[in-house]
Amino acid sequence: MEIVVSGIRSTGNLHLGNYFGALQNFVKLQHTHLCYFFIADYHSLTTHPTSKYLHSSARQVLIEYLASGIDPEKCTIYVQSDVPEVTELYLYLNMNAYLGELERATAFKDKVKDQPDNVNAGLLTYPTLMAADILLHHGTQVPVGKDQQQHLEMARTFANRFNRLYKNEYFSEPQAFNFGKQLVKVPGLDGKGKMGKSEGEGNAVFLSDSPELIRKKVMKAVTDSGPTVSGQEKSDAARNLFELLKLVSTIETVDFFEAEYNACKISYGDLKKQLAEDMIVHNAPIYDRIQELGADSTYVREVARMGAAKARNSAQKTIKEVRKIIGFKSF
Ligand code: TRP
Repeated sequence: MEIVVSGIRSTGNLHLGNYFGALQNFVKLQHTHLCYFFIADYHSLTTHPTSKYLHSSARQVLIEYLASGIDPEKCTIYVQSDVPEVTELYLYLNMNAYLGELERATAFKDKVKDQPDNVNAGLLTYPTLMAADILLHHGTQVPVGKDQQQHLEMARTFANRFNRLYKNEYFSEPQAFNFGKQLVKVPGLDGKGKMGKSEGEGNAVFLSDSPELIRKKVMKAVTDSGPTVSGQEKSDAARNLFELLKLVSTIETVDFFEAEYNACKISYGDLKKQLAEDMIVHNAPIYDRIQELGADSTYVREVARMGAAKARNSAQKTIKEVRKIIGFKSF
């Protein structure tokens, strides 16, 4: 079985973009692959969370993974910091990662622009930690979005460089995993780009949002003044609403609003009402499970413990082999 590794940074609750873009695929993959899914809390340290938030956000993401259908019996689900072996591999890979290439990473350059007062070394070496996450379990298939393709390319570079340096074909190249169809694009509610937690209040619908909150957010979604001629091309804002409708509503509903739009009779208010209700129905089982799991600390603790044990097993084997390859020996 091929090995799949993927993680999500615990910097906030998960939203519908995470669900359709990642979680839904993770749930499918756990039946056909040997999967390691983790909560990337070490990665979240680049933005200096408070101690309290560090823990509560990792716990919340773990709960949301489980609520979305990731099954701890079928795959290994763990919190990154429960497997400190990854930091050792990170150190080795860093010896072999060059300033120039790290500085050229698009995500790094964006961060430099976004947070010029906090351009720390952890941010610069984010790609080596990500490579360590994957190589620690010999992952070959990595389900990630488009924005992570460059990091994955760097992971391949680091793996190959390690192999060349030590003249040992130890690491296999990790590849981006996709389901053969185009990656789903989940737009946000602000009339602009994709759904994201950093795009401002109200842009994202979170899996943990109550029905009332979903209604409120969706009703506030940006629209336009409506089409004036039949067959008029949609604005970004209108297209985004239709994209969201396609994800959660029936074909009949989508067709109905398409026809209304084409006939210049569209009521965005009606569309939004329907969209909110369909999102609520879609999220309901996940939302209910989040509440249940949130109240069941014993179970959540047990899942984390079991996942950490499985992940450490695999990690310790790798670290032992890597130390031997590098040349560490006991005296
Ligand atoms: N960098 C990923 C993101 O921001 C999260 C991540 C960390 C990851 N380590 C990983 C994804 C390893 C896949 C594999 O979305």
